Amino acid sequence: MNDLYLRTLRGETTERRPLWIMRQAGRYLPEYRALRKEHSFEELCASPELSAQVTLMPIERYALDAAIVFADLMSPVSALGVDVRFDPGPVIDKPIRDAAAIRALRVPEGPEIAPEVPATLSLVKDRLAGRANLVGFAGSPFSIAAYLVQGRGGKDFALLRALLFEDPVAFGRLMEKLAQMSARYLIEQHKAGADAVQVFESWGGILSLDTWRAHVKPHVERLLQEVRGAGVPTVMFANGAPHMAEDLAKLPADALALCWRCDLPGLRKQLGPDKVLQGNLDPAALLAGPEPARRATEELLAAMPPQRHIVNLGHGIQPETPMESVQAVIDAVHAEELVA
Ligand code: CP3
Repeated sequence: MNDLYLRTLRGETTERRPLWIMRQAGRYLPEYRALRKEHSFEELCASPELSAQVTLMPIERYALDAAIVFADLMSPVSALGVDVRFDPGPVIDKPIRDAAAIRALRVPEGPEIAPEVPATLSLVKDRLAGRANLVGFAGSPFSIAAYLVQGRGGKDFALLRALLFEDPVAFGRLMEKLAQMSARYLIEQHKAGADAVQVFESWGGILSLDTWRAHVKPHVERLLQEVRGAGVPTVMFANGAPHMAEDLAKLPADALALCWRCDLPGLRKQLGPDKVLQGNLDPAALLAGPEPARRATEELLAAMPPQRHIVNLGHGIQPETPMESVQAVIDAVHAEELVA
């Protein structure tokens, strides 16, 4: 039974640091690319059997300590009554741009939200047979809204930020609805077998600290409180948000995961030994090849005290990453001997 990840998340002292890789179930794997020749991304997501196979692909190949369910950040939005397609990222043909459109969104009950995802989790839980812990996930209200309002991915989501300033009340209702949905969805995932859940704040970092504090943070706080209150271990991940690190560390999550721009060892010194931290290799170090990946991992291990640290990348693995780089990271983590 490998529950290294979960024990670390609970703050227990462990014999080694756990390791998993953001976006580990995806395009850098030849077996994923082969399956994608036969099925669209939407087909994979809609089928619990295929999603379970993809979730398990990195676990069959590598000694990773957690499996993350194969789904998308936008998987739950069809339950709100919004259509989404992928090209290759999420596209909303009728974006949510005003108070009336926000009012029309209906917050679904837990079992109505992307039921294929809990179904995938139950299949994976059985097939994992204790080889690794199982992680569920959902988007933060702001990161889901990014696509709902803008209509598709981008760098700065100007229309989303404009809505926040133009109609803060409607924007707040949107945050409330999405936070409520994500909380219900994460609780369902836990019931179906997820040992822990990760909230992805992929885009919050585009806001100033003050704006995020005033308009987004209270909703993330409520989401985490609700999920944690249901007894679910939680990880809060934020991309591109070094300016928010101190605030993020105080959120009611069991662990904080940060991107590679953040000074994780510095944060450890500042916060003390108790907070569980996850991250934060630069995905580009793996893209560069096994030697740079090994060096970057060794540097991270040397800079971060070994307890209460979950090794991961600072963001998703790049599709063109050589597979040997993943093995190099694993070897470096496994080679470390912790003194009890
Ligand atoms: O291995 C895993 O991490 C599980 C699967 C997973 C996917 N999406 C599958 C996917 C997870 C955790 C996500 C989350 C996700 N999706 C986020 C949050 C994490 C982050 O990156 O900050 C976001 C912002 C999205 C939105 C999204 N979905 C984009 C921008 C894209 C296109 C570009 C890209 O990065 O792949 C997608 C499509 C998507 N989601 C793919 C996969 C495997 C590629 C689809 C394909 O096979 O063509």
